[in-house]
Amino acid sequence: MIIKTENLTKDYETGTQVVSALKGINLSVEKGEFLSIMGPSGSGKTTLMNIIGCLDSPTNGSYYLNDKSVSKLDDDELAKIRNEEIGFVFQSFHLLARNTAFENVMLPLKYAGISKEEATKKSNDVLDLVGLSNRSKHTPAELSGGQQQRVAIARALVNEPSILFADEPTGNLDSNTGQEVMKIFKDLNENGQTIILITHEDSIAKQSNRIITIMDGLIKSDLRE
Ligand SMILES: Nc1ncnc2c1ncn2[C@@H]1O[C@H](COP(=O)(O)OP(=O)(O)O)[C@@H](O)[C@H]1O
Ligand SMILES: [Mg+2]
Repeated sequence: MIIKTENLTKDYETGTQVVSALKGINLSVEKGEFLSIMGPSGSGKTTLMNIIGCLDSPTNGSYYLNDKSVSKLDDDELAKIRNEEIGFVFQSFHLLARNTAFENVMLPLKYAGISKEEATKKSNDVLDLVGLSNRSKHTPAELSGGQQQRVAIARALVNEPSILFADEPTGNLDSNTGQEVMKIFKDLNENGQTIILITHEDSIAKQSNRIITIMDGLIKSDLRE
């Protein structure tokens, strides 16, 4: 099992108020799954992604990533696991504006301490994989939205993560361009990549193999194709 959570909860305290964003999530994901997480705004999707993506810790409950308990790690330990195991793609791309596509993709490898030669090869390989070898010297402003998202996908993949997370990856794209991005996810998944995608669009979720619906901090349904 790549992911296993048991009674995962998350409370946010703001001033005197406590918001229970997750109220007991039990979720298991196997290697190679392509999972969508759906649910209305405020239901807890991003909170769940942040915890299983090792960006944040749960308030209570346990979380095992690749059979290793990660729910009680400190921020530094969490950051190390995140760099090694997780790739993120966001709705608004999150690319560095002054850097080229190639430099954006190279960035995660700088922290991994691998040689420049190997990093260059890996970066060129993933840019090739998303069909952008001929745009590697362009900055984000010189690329279309779909191309920028493909650079973000290449950056997320360059460390060969066990899990690729995408939070509304097609939210800022027109439907044709969104479909091109979905095609990349499907191809990656067919080659064994585990993918967890957050979306509020039925047409996007239907393209994955399993759909989980979250309502008010709890899993309401879990459907496999
Ligand atoms: N940093 C935060 N501080 C306080 N409340 C938060 C924070 N992040 C999210 N919440 C609250 O937690 C609940 C779940 O939010 P979120 O996980 O962002 O939902 P979704 O991604 O499904 O829209 C919401 O009620 C939201 O207002
Ligand atoms: Mg969200």
